[in-house]
Amino acid sequence: MADVIEYKNYINGRWVKSKSGEVFENRNPANTDEVVGVFQKSNATDVNEAIAAAREAFKKWRLVPAPRRGEILYRIAERLVKEKERCARDMTREMGKVIKETRGDVQEAIDLGYHMASEGRRLLGYTTPSELPNKFQMCVRQPKGVVGLITPWNFPMAIPSWKMMPALVCGNTVVIKPATDTPLSVYNYVKIIEEEGIPPGVVNIVTGSGRNVGEPLMRDKDVAVISFTGSTEIGRFVSEACATDFRGCHLEMGGKNCILILEDADIDLAVEGALWGAFGTTGQRCTASSRMIVHKDVIKDFTDKLVSRARALKVGNGLDESVDMGPAINEGQMDTVLEYIEIGKKEGAKLLCGGERLTGGEFDRGFFTMPTVFGEVSPDMTIFREEIFGSVTSVTVCNSLEEGIELANNTAYGLSASVYTQDVNKAFQAMRDIYTGIFYVNAPTIGAEVHLPFGGVKNTGNGHREAGIAGIEVFSEWKSIYIDHSGRIQKAQIDDIT
Ligand code: UN1
Repeated sequence: MADVIEYKNYINGRWVKSKSGEVFENRNPANTDEVVGVFQKSNATDVNEAIAAAREAFKKWRLVPAPRRGEILYRIAERLVKEKERCARDMTREMGKVIKETRGDVQEAIDLGYHMASEGRRLLGYTTPSELPNKFQMCVRQPKGVVGLITPWNFPMAIPSWKMMPALVCGNTVVIKPATDTPLSVYNYVKIIEEEGIPPGVVNIVTGSGRNVGEPLMRDKDVAVISFTGSTEIGRFVSEACATDFRGCHLEMGGKNCILILEDADIDLAVEGALWGAFGTTGQRCTASSRMIVHKDVIKDFTDKLVSRARALKVGNGLDESVDMGPAINEGQMDTVLEYIEIGKKEGAKLLCGGERLTGGEFDRGFFTMPTVFGEVSPDMTIFREEIFGSVTSVTVCNSLEEGIELANNTAYGLSASVYTQDVNKAFQAMRDIYTGIFYVNAPTIGAEVHLPFGGVKNTGNGHREAGIAGIEVFSEWKSIYIDHSGRIQKAQIDDIT
């Protein structure tokens, strides 16, 4: 324990301990003997200090020209390029996903950084002609103020970047609460943000639990908008906390994403996609491909191939480059996954491979589950309906494109979906009729790029999107401005100027 680093909160430009005087451990889910670091177990006093600092810093930051703000973001992205490997390795140690994927996670933060840096010279509003003479009008974007960001553990740097970078380029100031399982990645990010010249108070990090940090943050009337990624259950709670004061609330929550595989699909390609979509990030993505809906003519071929590929996946410590799939994030998550597997079996789904915790040797020190495929899954089964967030996927038969679309839509969620087909007409029909925020053709349900809106319909979200220009919408307010240069009173809707 002697060489374990104690990481601090960053409030008002200073690295400080929590007022609670307590810390919590961050352990490696692939090897729980390894303490990745200890972090501040913060409380409402720390949160209030961070909000006060952000409120004060907002007075100046909002007036920094947006292109200058963008230049700082550019430098942050440049630094991340240099520090990518270190950040990726730290991320695998605290989160468990394989090193190739954590490099991708940092890359996503880099991409978003460059994208939002360029927004500094855009942040487009528009002008439009007036209905009256000698009158000019335009609408511009204004920052909202202090924003509270509550981020998840599955994309420990990418998702904080989706929220922080657009918030900053718009001129907001930030208090971020990282997931308790992955604070180191946000710490690494904020350290770079500090070193690249973001002024004190503009970005503040407060680590700790949802109850002691997340809740005071979401309830504070000085926080103009909360952006939250996590479960639908907690999202509802966040939404209610913000609703009473009409404060902004952006939610990105669960998914039950499907891949629809039609009879004319390239089956090998579909298997490849299904494998990546289902077991990439150990299935711990809100975009994970957790339902395969497969045409009856190809279901046997597809399922046999998927099962043999799933069986061959190498599970282990993600720092080993040859490993395909890492552990579950923590014991609770692993237990949830194992419970869903039991439910699947009890409800009559056919377990085709996996289905258990991996044990023996190094597995005993981590939270490893087998890649699991269930066949003969029907829409009334729990594993068809509920988000599992783990290494489990299911196969369901369909008899036609229409039935496949119906099954795809038979869910409370609406984040991502995909279709595998060689027929352009069918692809377009599925694209139009499956209701999700993200859709892929001949690719799995994961792999969104940062310059397109990310988010979903139904229980996945509350109508907002992040990343792309959509992220700017969450963190800015429209202001419509009218400039009358006629020198006389003019009355819109009333003056007859014809
Ligand atoms: C998530 O699933 O929680 O589209 C985020 C993807 C990634 C982001 C996923 N770029 O799969």
